[in-house]
Amino acid sequence: MPFAHITGWGMYVPEPILTNDDISKLVDTNDEWIRDRTGIRERHIAREHEFPSTLGVEAAVRALQIANLAPTELDLIICTSSSPEYIFPATACIIQDQIGATKAGAFDIQAACTGFIFATNMAAQAIRSGSIKSALVVGTEVLSRFVNWKDRNTCILFGDGAGAFVLQASDIPGGVMSTVMHSDGSGADSLAILAGGSRYPASELTIHEGKHFIEMDGKEVFRFATRVMGRAVLEALEKVNMTTNDVQWIVPHQANYRIIETAAKYLKMPLDKFVINVDRYGNTSTASIPIATVEAIQKGQIKPSDKIAFVGFGGGLTWGAMVVEWTGPIPAKKHVHPEQYRRFARLRSFLRRVIRFIEGVFSRREL
Ligand code: UT7
Repeated sequence: MPFAHITGWGMYVPEPILTNDDISKLVDTNDEWIRDRTGIRERHIAREHEFPSTLGVEAAVRALQIANLAPTELDLIICTSSSPEYIFPATACIIQDQIGATKAGAFDIQAACTGFIFATNMAAQAIRSGSIKSALVVGTEVLSRFVNWKDRNTCILFGDGAGAFVLQASDIPGGVMSTVMHSDGSGADSLAILAGGSRYPASELTIHEGKHFIEMDGKEVFRFATRVMGRAVLEALEKVNMTTNDVQWIVPHQANYRIIETAAKYLKMPLDKFVINVDRYGNTSTASIPIATVEAIQKGQIKPSDKIAFVGFGGGLTWGAMVVEWTGPIPAKKHVHPEQYRRFARLRSFLRRVIRFIEGVFSRREL
């Protein structure tokens, strides 16, 4: 049975930064309160012309560069987002088209902030089963478009950004070792965007009632997160007969510094074993774990052969953890330039649209 290694990683955040002081001009809050209660100092906000696919493509190309893998080699793309571009088509398909992943199947999964762990697990299982050789997982968010900038309970928390992993099959042991995935739909009300789906289709009333914005019972989510995070890590470690002593790094979902602190206490682990960057990005939902991972690698914290536990929680309610042996890119003789495929991808996409248009004209004539 092949092993599923994480061989590439990339992140991208939009340039504009929104500080706590900026937010204090919008709602009744202040920098001290936000830093004290959440650990967040600033977050990045997408510009008007940036969408989840825009950010996701940047992160994906960077991940492919590290993996030294051409997009045309990808078998599968899974995108996960709490702020997808559309209800359908899947954001994964837009990314597939733009990076030029001509033979990849692409789809989205939705598990709120836990999405990246669930999606990476799905990709790893597909590789482990032998049915595919390589996969791209993208977590990408433009949550700022769903934030009610008049609600001080939520608007202080979220930021935009994207992160991506490339997974590849190898006979060498390592990579994704174990995963646990959990859900509890009885808590669905605690964190939600209610309108825009088929239950509350967009209407004057849904807009008037603010149902297209993120709604959250902050205290409830806080209690849930502190209850499940530590337990999920232990469960994932137990599956591979490991303990917290065997782990070099925990990469938690970046929602709130205090939640991470509580998890560290529960696990009896020093906080400096936790990768934390919530101060500079806020909560980027599905993108937070890969963004934190990429930064930790760039800082020289995460190194090959390290054992890492990812842990996440979010709306649904959902939560999960994954234990990974970090390896890095599979050595290859040839050097590929994934970014160069984008130009061809744009041309290919344009030509396919033209062909589809011409086919449409001829088929109408035949009818
Ligand atoms: O991916 C998962 C996403 N969600 C989360 O992870 C959220 C988890 N929850 C949290 O992070 C925290 O519950 C919050 C940061 C949202 C809130 O922190 P808290 O310590 O639970 O505050 P609180 O809701 O208990 O509010 C305490 C006080 C209240 O005032 P009173 O009633 O005591 O007078 C709030 O009205 O703080 C007030 N408050 C604020 N004050 C200044 C609430 N938000 C703000 C604010 N600035 N932004």
